[in-house]
Amino acid sequence: MIIKPKVRGFVCVTAHPAGCAAHVQEQIDYVKGKGPIENGPRNALIIGASTGYGLGSRVAAAFGSGAKTLGVFFERPSEDGRPATPGWYNSIAFSQAARAAGLYAANINGDAFSDDVKKQTMEIIARDMGPIDLVVYSLASPRRTHPRTGVVHKSTLQPLGAPYTNKTVDTDKGIVSEVTIQPADEAATADTVAVMGGEDWEMWMQALADAKLLAPGATAMAYSYIGPHHTWPIYKDGTIGRAKIDLERAARAIDAQLKAHGHGRAFISVNKALVTQASSAIPVVPLYISILYKVMKEMGLHEGCAEQMQRLFATHLYNGRSPQFDSEGRVRIDDWEMRPDVQAKVAAIWPQVTTENLAQLTDIAGYRSEFLKLFGFGLPGIDYDADIEPHVPMA
Ligand code: NAI
Repeated sequence: MIIKPKVRGFVCVTAHPAGCAAHVQEQIDYVKGKGPIENGPRNALIIGASTGYGLGSRVAAAFGSGAKTLGVFFERPSEDGRPATPGWYNSIAFSQAARAAGLYAANINGDAFSDDVKKQTMEIIARDMGPIDLVVYSLASPRRTHPRTGVVHKSTLQPLGAPYTNKTVDTDKGIVSEVTIQPADEAATADTVAVMGGEDWEMWMQALADAKLLAPGATAMAYSYIGPHHTWPIYKDGTIGRAKIDLERAARAIDAQLKAHGHGRAFISVNKALVTQASSAIPVVPLYISILYKVMKEMGLHEGCAEQMQRLFATHLYNGRSPQFDSEGRVRIDDWEMRPDVQAKVAAIWPQVTTENLAQLTDIAGYRSEFLKLFGFGLPGIDYDADIEPHVPMA
């Protein structure tokens, strides 16, 4: 099959196996190039391991510290005439590279919110790995079937209280326009908290504790975002922000429990805004990211998922370092994004952007190429005109 990108709005419905492998290899090469991360994790469980920040975390744990990794994710395998989702190919590529380097890597493709996947995970850890010393919780999901009630909760990206109007960009067509998003009601807010809040993370930690599969001194970490004022109504102060407040509540509860049973730590890392499948679905944010990339690249401060996670592991978690927390107890690896000089430049560009000057004032080209790379397109050294087998079994 010859696989080309088919972009439909903010998703690409095709993915290239060899391109995804090359994209994963780029991340591995970056982490290896930065040298070993000392005193790192030995046994890492990554929930949401196939793309974005979860994949970056898995690469940092394995190729920075030599950790055994178990990745949990929810990806669609190939079907007749249709390639798999990128996370499927990424996880195969990661596992092959890890095993070639002598590192244990196992994968579970299924619904992380379910009891069944948690049970399968515990079985693999007990059988093959031994107690887990790093739990990374990096899910981004549009829905969750609650394992106790069977209710299907759907998450939304909406403001609260009042409609929100701002500029946005259709990243595919390059059209800048104004968008108004209606506020969520209480039910939609509660649903978003049920999907993206902390309850499921707590269930994972409880399952590990009940199975006695948490190593003494274990670290548990989940990811959040804050960003600048102009995105607050749709992010920090919106439905997803409410879910992140709940994730922070869960971090404190898990931290207290880990400490009650010896040492250990749980916290939130606030990460940089990056092009991922999750962030491309948020209105306004892709325009912000296009401006941010322009500014951060010009200032020599740009990072991707692997760079962010390598820096998080090397400067906050391991290498003899301790996490430096903000006043709310969060690690801020978004520190470069939030630098006042960076944000001042972004804020100066924001009101000027139009469809006509989008290419000059923003890094829309960089946004698009990063977006396509998520699906394995535009990687150097890949022949996209060559026939390639889309059916690849999970490694
Ligand atoms: P992503 O879309 O790249 O990755 C999501 C992961 O969750 C994938 O591995 C996917 O397979 C997995 N997943 C989704 N539903 C699942 C389910 N039911 N069962 C098992 N696995 C499932 O997302 P991204 O952007 O890496 O987000 C991860 C976390 O990082 C989220 O908490 C997000 O809010 C946070 N974050 C993202 C930022 C960004 O700009 N992309 C910035 C700061 C934080």
